[in-house]
Amino acid sequence: MSVATAVAHPNIALVKYWGKADAALNLPATGSLSMTLDVYPTTTTVRVDPDATADTLRLNGSERDEQATGRVTRFLDVVRELAGSTHRAHVDSVNTVPSAAGLASSASGFAALAGAAAAAYGLDLDARALSRLARRGSGSASRSIIPGFAVWHAGTDEESFAEPLPAPDLAMVIAVVDSGHKPVSSREGMRRTVLTSPFYPAWVTSTAETLTAAVTACREGDVDRLGRITETNALRMHAVIQASDPPLRYLTATSHEIFDRVERLRADGVGAWATADAGPNVVVLCRAADAETVRAALAGLVELVVAHPGPGMRVVERA
Ligand code: PMV
Repeated sequence: MSVATAVAHPNIALVKYWGKADAALNLPATGSLSMTLDVYPTTTTVRVDPDATADTLRLNGSERDEQATGRVTRFLDVVRELAGSTHRAHVDSVNTVPSAAGLASSASGFAALAGAAAAAYGLDLDARALSRLARRGSGSASRSIIPGFAVWHAGTDEESFAEPLPAPDLAMVIAVVDSGHKPVSSREGMRRTVLTSPFYPAWVTSTAETLTAAVTACREGDVDRLGRITETNALRMHAVIQASDPPLRYLTATSHEIFDRVERLRADGVGAWATADAGPNVVVLCRAADAETVRAALAGLVELVVAHPGPGMRVVERA
């Protein structure tokens, strides 16, 4: 029996992934750019058990039902095929994102699972192969394999992996807006957008151009340009989503209030730019030196967490 444990952190995209070119392989329609965080780690242990007849999943100490385990089993099937194994496994995952916070945990979750499962099934994969593997669980997980800033490429199964990108000294202030109700999953939201949003073709072409500009700004350390790209791209993503049928909206009044405060910060000369994923939480990008100023400006509305660039996925134990 072989056991391995891995740790991974969530990431927040500055140029978003929204829309698949291939749903089975989780190939994105466009590339994306993100920062892996140093907060909210997920720790996952995979124990391969030759005597087990089914995979099991424990999440934060409680056993999950067949439906929740199904997604993990489909992911482990990919690992088993690579490893030439038919053995089932026990997965034990601990997620430090407060469950009420509603922050996406699929990126850290599938990055940690990819690392632990690859090690437990005896696969020796480099970062590129691990990123491609994590992508199969959740697209954004491909980027949580990588420390700090990462670009995830669109393309074929072979070509679609994330790799590191040099970046200036940035931080993110996370505003935890979530009021408790579960948003439409990113999987369903993307599907609805691709099928029904008349703006989707424009989102794809503009995001491809935006990514090129963002990579250049990142490499050149042009924080103002990167920040502006980040907020514009987030608003474009929410615009393409909001043009879907049936209607779909992820941002709430509080989310908009935070975008307003960030705009006021900029008017006061502080470099701060807001972004938001498929939910009401808002994340504010700024220079590391401005993180405290940004936090203070947002205080009193919702819970705030300051994050910096964090480590990539690490296997911390194997036996
Ligand atoms: O990886 P998924 O399927 O959870 O999709 C992530 C989608 C966004 O978080 C909204 C954007 C992104 O690039 O992370």
